[in-house]
Amino acid sequence: MQYKKQEGDIVPSMLARQQKVLDKTEVRKLLQLSVELAMGAGKILRRGFNRSLKIDYKGRINPVTEYDLKSERYITSHISKRFPDHAILAEEEGAVAEKSSYRWVIDPLDGTVNYAHGFPMYCVSIAVEFEGDIVAGTVYDPERDELFHAGLKMGAYLNQKRIKVSSEKILQRALLATGFAYNIGTARRTNLGLFARMAKKAQGLRRAGSAAIDLCWLACGRIDGFWEFYLQPWDTAAAKLIVEEAGGQVSRINDASYSIFSPDILASNGHLHKVMRSVLTGRAL
Ligand code: IPD
Ligand code: CA
Ligand code: CA
Repeated sequence: MQYKKQEGDIVPSMLARQQKVLDKTEVRKLLQLSVELAMGAGKILRRGFNRSLKIDYKGRINPVTEYDLKSERYITSHISKRFPDHAILAEEEGAVAEKSSYRWVIDPLDGTVNYAHGFPMYCVSIAVEFEGDIVAGTVYDPERDELFHAGLKMGAYLNQKRIKVSSEKILQRALLATGFAYNIGTARRTNLGLFARMAKKAQGLRRAGSAAIDLCWLACGRIDGFWEFYLQPWDTAAAKLIVEEAGGQVSRINDASYSIFSPDILASNGHLHKVMRSVLTGRAL
């Protein structure tokens, strides 16, 4: 007689996956290092802020300052010393392609255009993936001395205090944020039309120039929703976990599940997800 699978049976693939779950002590260790490094890198960025900077361009309008590089080298050299076998994906100097269950995903300076102009809205973002899942995320904003962090299933915190997303349910009362990618001059999705459409529906709409801060401000209830196109893995890796651990929702604009490699993102307090999607996909109300 053939055995029929029962609900609750553990199948071998589940077993393999179960064995690969990190325990909380391990996550705390990774989180602790990401916090130390984000704060250390934040100090470096503060030192360079409002100074005359050496700026290069990675594209037509996409700048990289000497401090993007200083911050990144500080972070990656410490990770490699402590965990020589971990993989690293960092914005400026690319991937250290170790074959590893662990990967650090780093934006050494999110908000470089702001930074280069002395506009005080920028941060450091560090996430750690284990077997493809983000398990630890830290975003540090040196100008406000605000440290956001989250561990998987461990909650989200701002300066050690637990945070949660807002409870706003009405789009007309909602403050939203978005951004525009460096490829705005040539991209298919410029986001300009959607910006105009959403501006007519929401209470307010901001473009502050750091996607990681936008998402952390969603996590702590300062804004109620966020969307953007063409973000890179390091822009969202840490803040995605922070939003989710704060009770928010993160998906692609069309409702598919979001990965840090997805070409668009919709994040909200959960209550506004459906209505934001309707507006953004043109099925509005
Ligand atoms: C940028 C910021 C900005 C977003 C851009 C990103 P960078 O990152 O997050 O808010 O609109 O799409 O590229 O270049 O300052 O690290
Ligand atoms: Ca960035
Ligand atoms: Ca950056």
